[in-house]
Amino acid sequence: MARKTTIRNDDEVPDERSDSGMDGGGSGGDKTRAGGSDEDDPEQQRYDDELRPSRLEDVVGQKAVVERLRILLEATRRRKEPLGHLLLDGPPGLGKTTLATVVPRELGTELQITAGPSLSAPKDLLPYLTNAGYGSVLFIDEIHRMPPAVEEFIYPAMEDFRVDITLGDGLNARTINMKLQPFTLIGATTRSGMLTAPLRDRFVNREHLDFYTDEELATIVTRNARKLRTEISPEAAQEIAIRSRGTPRKANNWLRWTRDFADVRANGKITLEVARAALRMKGVDDAGLEEQDRKYLQTIIRVFGGGPAGVQALGHTMNIPADTLEDEVEPFLLREGFIQRTPRGRMITAKAMAHLGVSQKQNPKQPRSGSDNAEQRELFD
Ligand SMILES: Nc1ncnc2c1ncn2[C@@H]1O[C@H](COP(=O)(O)OP(=O)(O)OP(=O)(O)O)[C@@H](O)[C@H]1O
Ligand SMILES: [Mg+2]
Repeated sequence: MARKTTIRNDDEVPDERSDSGMDGGGSGGDKTRAGGSDEDDPEQQRYDDELRPSRLEDVVGQKAVVERLRILLEATRRRKEPLGHLLLDGPPGLGKTTLATVVPRELGTELQITAGPSLSAPKDLLPYLTNAGYGSVLFIDEIHRMPPAVEEFIYPAMEDFRVDITLGDGLNARTINMKLQPFTLIGATTRSGMLTAPLRDRFVNREHLDFYTDEELATIVTRNARKLRTEISPEAAQEIAIRSRGTPRKANNWLRWTRDFADVRANGKITLEVARAALRMKGVDDAGLEEQDRKYLQTIIRVFGGGPAGVQALGHTMNIPADTLEDEVEPFLLREGFIQRTPRGRMITAKAMAHLGVSQKQNPKQPRSGSDNAEQRELFD
């Protein structure tokens, strides 16, 4: 598997706050990243990079997290010691990579980037560790996907800034101890539950990113419209925000789409009507649900009689990996109360039924808690 890395210092990072070069495509075009859940989509990565805040002061929302980071950064600067290892977790598109890249920039240190799936053996990680300068940051995206052998290799590196390298095998095997420069590991994960306790415990700083409010998303949309040199009304920014599932990446993507739509179908200005028409064309409803979300809810209703339904079974039925459902579809539906998670599986809620316009009669089992297994089995006969 190809391993990608970026080693750079502050000077090499284009400052996205400056307006220059935004429309010429010249800003940061050659940045290389091993992404997180967006790793397989280079276009999404390019979009993300273009609109990514570069400084902590440009980061919108996540107030408590940002405040704690400010304190950590200030203490680190004063003490002139490396920052303690930092774990960032939360659903996709909420700013984990953004914060991981902002931190070294604020500290004026180097950044190296890799990702769990690219590290198939300790030898893949070794160059990053030996390259890490004093106080520099090593960012490992999707850290929960590191194989156990790599994870064990990283323990002494995190704790004592050393690695144990075994040379030869059998009777001739020797272990060499190699000292490293004290560095900071920043790990990002959409699945903190999948991290082993020993790895999680080695992160002294842990931050969870949560969904954004509509106001915060509207601020992001308005700022980014300016970056994209597009005129947008406050009502339109609010409309895009409401339909972005609490996620800045979604808000940015809808902003780009409405901008294209406005250029082709209107006079380039994003008004409320233009935003609504553009999002309608993409199948985004008032609650921000898309085709895939509605299909998920409808599958629970139609195939599983309202639930409980296991995520694996839902994935198989919908032909979508269960991981994708867990990472990208369910967190928002749970937060908004469209589904409930019970020990026996996912249950549809009355709110979801009302939203989809499904009457209780069409789905008689839904309101009864501890729903009837015999009835459910009938559905599959
Ligand atoms: N706090 C924020 N303020 C402004 N924009 C943000 C913020 N957080 C994220 N964004 C925008 O959303 C995009 C996606 O964020 P980012 O790539 O950091 O998400 P992520 O948590 O790493 O997602 P994934 O799990 O998919 O890797 C960024 O390019 C940035 O433009
Ligand atoms: Mg990321």
